[in-house]
Amino acid sequence: MRKLTYFIACSIDGFIGGPDGDASFMYPFVDEEFLEFLKEEYPETIPTQGRRALGIDDLPNKRFDTVVQGRASYDLALKEGNSSPYAHLREYVASRTLAESPDPNVEIVSADLAGRVRELKAEDSALDIYLCGGSVVAGELVDEIDELVIKTYPVVLGTGMPMFASGFEVSEFATDSVRSFGNGAVVRTYHRKR
Ligand SMILES: NC(=O)c1ccc[n+]([C@@H]2O[C@H](COP(=O)([O-])OP(=O)(O)OC[C@H]3O[C@@H](n4cnc5c(N)ncnc54)[C@H](OP(=O)(O)O)[C@@H]3O)[C@@H](O)[C@H]2O)c1
Repeated sequence: MRKLTYFIACSIDGFIGGPDGDASFMYPFVDEEFLEFLKEEYPETIPTQGRRALGIDDLPNKRFDTVVQGRASYDLALKEGNSSPYAHLREYVASRTLAESPDPNVEIVSADLAGRVRELKAEDSALDIYLCGGSVVAGELVDEIDELVIKTYPVVLGTGMPMFASGFEVSEFATDSVRSFGNGAVVRTYHRKR
């Protein structure tokens, strides 16, 4: 069974963006050292356009071969005319309103999202599934998440979009690694205690 990994950037107080989800204040923390880390360990989490700009188009996928995201997150790329933001991965977008997929590489999941994710997890592949967010989809899939990779940037927001839009429920995770960076960013990885 392969893993569903929620790989997400957040503030010290656990918000993945401002109240409207805007996460652009996080971009400056992706400096040279942090970018090297991403290129080394998680190159497929860099969107295709960014990979092209960095000249790393041909870096092979290391951890993930599939990405799952909510329609609101996907919309950010779509509004910029990019219908396949992770063209180097199999892309799944959760949506009940997108009648048909805007791109041949993107499959729309309109019903039984958790069931579709369980099917993807059951596939025979050496690589895992990247849960990109946002908050609503992560909240709906919280019970399916096997691993967390949390990139925490050294800012406090006070309020904002939570990591999970879900109800109160205690789920236990165990820490696998903690890595800190010169700019104050910290990346923690956890696996779910089963
Ligand atoms: N900090 C980070 O690393 C990071 C990463 C990703 C995203 N974000 C931020 O997250 C924000 C978006 O998050 P969000 O929570 O508002 O939305 P989201 O989770 O990206 O997308 C929500 C949408 O997904 C669809 N959906 C949700 N559950 C579904 C289900 N069970 N079945 C079918 N479709 C389902 C619905 O689309 P329809 O309305 O089409 O039905 C829903 O409106 C963005 O502003 C982005 O900046 C931050």
